[in-house]
This record gives sequence, C-alpha cells and structure tokens, in this order.
Amino acid sequence: MNLKNYIRDIQGFPKEGILFKDITPLLNDPIAREYCLEILLSSLNGLKIDKVVGAESRGFFFGMLLADRLNAGFVPVRKPNKLPFKTISRSYNLEYGTDSLEMHVDAIKKGEKVLIHDDVLATGGTARALADLVHELGGEIVQFNFLMELSFLNGREKIKEHSIFTVITY
Ligand code: PRP
Ligand code: MG
Repeated sequence: MNLKNYIRDIQGFPKEGILFKDITPLLNDPIAREYCLEILLSSLNGLKIDKVVGAESRGFFFGMLLADRLNAGFVPVRKPNKLPFKTISRSYNLEYGTDSLEMHVDAIKKGEKVLIHDDVLATGGTARALADLVHELGGEIVQFNFLMELSFLNGREKIKEHSIFTVITY
C-alpha cells in the first residue's frame, strides 16, 4: 500500500505559496489508517513506552491510537490557555513571530519513557518545544515519530540527539 495516495496536496492553504499536506483521506480510510499505525508501532521494536505525547491538534489523532495500542498514557500538549490544570510552557518560532505550547505539570513523572508523536516534522520548532517540555518534567524520550517529514526544511536538525522515525518523507 502506498500511503502517499492518502495524503492530499492542497495548494495555497492556509495561505498563498504553501502546499498543505492534508491527512484527512488517511484518517477517513480504516485500512490505510491501520496500516500506517502498524508501521509506527513496528518502528518501536517492542520498546516500553509509559507515555505518548501528542501535539494539538493533528498530533492527537495517531497519538491516541498509539497510546491505546502501547497500553501507555496519553499526554495532550496544547496551545496556550486550553489546559485547565497547572501547566509548564515552551515557546517556539513561527515563520512570523512565536507561539507556545503547554503541558500539565503532572503529565509525566521523572524517568518515564516517552514517545513523542506529531503528524508533520516541518521546521522542527514544534518538535523542539515538545522535547523541552518532556525534559522539564524529567521524562526520557525514547523516540519521535511522525506521519511525514518535509525533509527540505531540515527540522530533524533541531532534535538530532533523538531517535526519529517518519512514515513518509517528502
Ligand atoms: C503543524 C503540524 C505540526 C507543526 C509542524 O501544526 O501539525 O504540528 O505544524 O511544523 P514545525 O515543524 O515547523 O513546527 P500547526 O501548528 O499548524 O497546528 P495544527 O496541528 O493544530 O494544525
Ligand atoms: Mg500540529
């Protein structure tokens, strides 16, 4: 099965000049989705995972599926002021300006084995912020995994000390 057939190119979204990779056809197809999930799981080689961290919002879809199959906890990392309990926060660079991501302070315990999942590795700013949040709570990052990597943006440089797995590379 070629999973690229389930990623739809949308020219000019969310703004002019951007070629958006739309994963909704993949989410919409139970066979392709399961196939993709199995690839993500097999990359872990049976390593124990205590927590899966997923980034709002597109990291939630497969992040929760992974947590379920790994029998691990799921940790939602959210955009500012969305989480109700006490949080830690990390800012990261966007094309113009900065944004930040937040995690609940009690989401990860010191020494827990963590898998970080997101749909896309682009510039790596989001991934770097996720890693910093996990480290602040004392979690050990076992792997980063992504559905796709936009390799021409060199995002993996920002998290190069970690193991990185991507299903599809553009
Ligand atoms: C997109 C994508 C990744 C991130 C990758 O999320 O889902 O999370 O950008 O970009 P980066 O490597 O340059 O940081 P976005 O912030 O657009 O939000 P969304 O997931 O809610 O759509
Ligand atoms: Mg995202």
